[in-house]
Amino acid sequence: MIEALADLESSALDSLSLIHDASALEAWRVEHLGSKGALKSVMGMMKDVPKEQKPLAGQRANEVKQRLEAAFQERKANLEQASSPAALLDPTEPGLPPARGRRHPISTTVDAILDVFGRMGFEVAHGPEVEDEWHNFNALNIPADHPARDPVDNFYMGGSQDDVTRLLRTQTSTVQIRTMEAHKPPLRIVAAGRVYRPDTHDATHYSMFHQVEGLCIDEGVSMVDLKTSLMQFARAMFGPEAEARMRPSFFPFTEPSAEVDMKITVKGKTQWMEIGGCGMVDPAVLEAVGIDPERYTGFAFGLGVERIAMRRYGIADIRWMYENDARFLDQF
Ligand code: DAH
Repeated sequence: MIEALADLESSALDSLSLIHDASALEAWRVEHLGSKGALKSVMGMMKDVPKEQKPLAGQRANEVKQRLEAAFQERKANLEQASSPAALLDPTEPGLPPARGRRHPISTTVDAILDVFGRMGFEVAHGPEVEDEWHNFNALNIPADHPARDPVDNFYMGGSQDDVTRLLRTQTSTVQIRTMEAHKPPLRIVAAGRVYRPDTHDATHYSMFHQVEGLCIDEGVSMVDLKTSLMQFARAMFGPEAEARMRPSFFPFTEPSAEVDMKITVKGKTQWMEIGGCGMVDPAVLEAVGIDPERYTGFAFGLGVERIAMRRYGIADIRWMYENDARFLDQF
């Protein structure tokens, strides 16, 4: 029996050392210490042990029982500790790099445009996105019966408390008016921001997009200054090979008016791209804001930011810029 106890003790401790989960540990306890377990069956040999050896056999059996119980408790404690959150943390493991935000291609494009005009002496001006009809239309020589004011082409706002009809601005030209109302010439400003039109969304149209507006008012400002400014902008923004050209057009707030195209090279491909409108500020606009059109002249332009950004980064669909899909945004 003494031998059997010694065998049991060493085989039980060996198998215990291989156990790494709670259910195997419980199975081990049942197998060795349970009421029908190995220790119990070795104890069954007691009846065959000669009388004078019984005390020694009994003492050994007790020792083995205590050793195995203690070993079981110790293993149990170790396993519990190993699965605790603190034990799972390895402070020497390299950390995960924090997810870093990126600037949106519209933001970087707006900044690049404003930076170029900033170097040409244009200050940055701002205006609200919710505008009244005076700044979005009337002062810009767009009278009440003008088709551009049709409710289907504008996001008019309800719930006015002061009898003023408001809308989400359809153009940043509103900032021209606000600037001229607040400051006396000479003026040279650029204003960037969102504009809104109820267009059906497709690859090149969205109901919200961005424009950069420019305005220069002084004595003796001519069309040459306008063309030179656009040419300089084209080169600074798109490289020394870039060019700007103007095609006759019509806007109510400029006379004469033109569309602006720029010849730019992206990834080895040279193309003319229409980027906005421009012209000499209409005398009626100067009069509306109290500037003497006999003394002052000026030019204005409005550029589409999305077109420039899409060209610059090779973005094929305007909608991608507003879906906030991380797979798209991560590329910039
Ligand atoms: N506001 C015009 C538009 O949204 C763009 C524009 C054209 C702005 C001519 C100007 C300008 O300042 O002179 O279509």
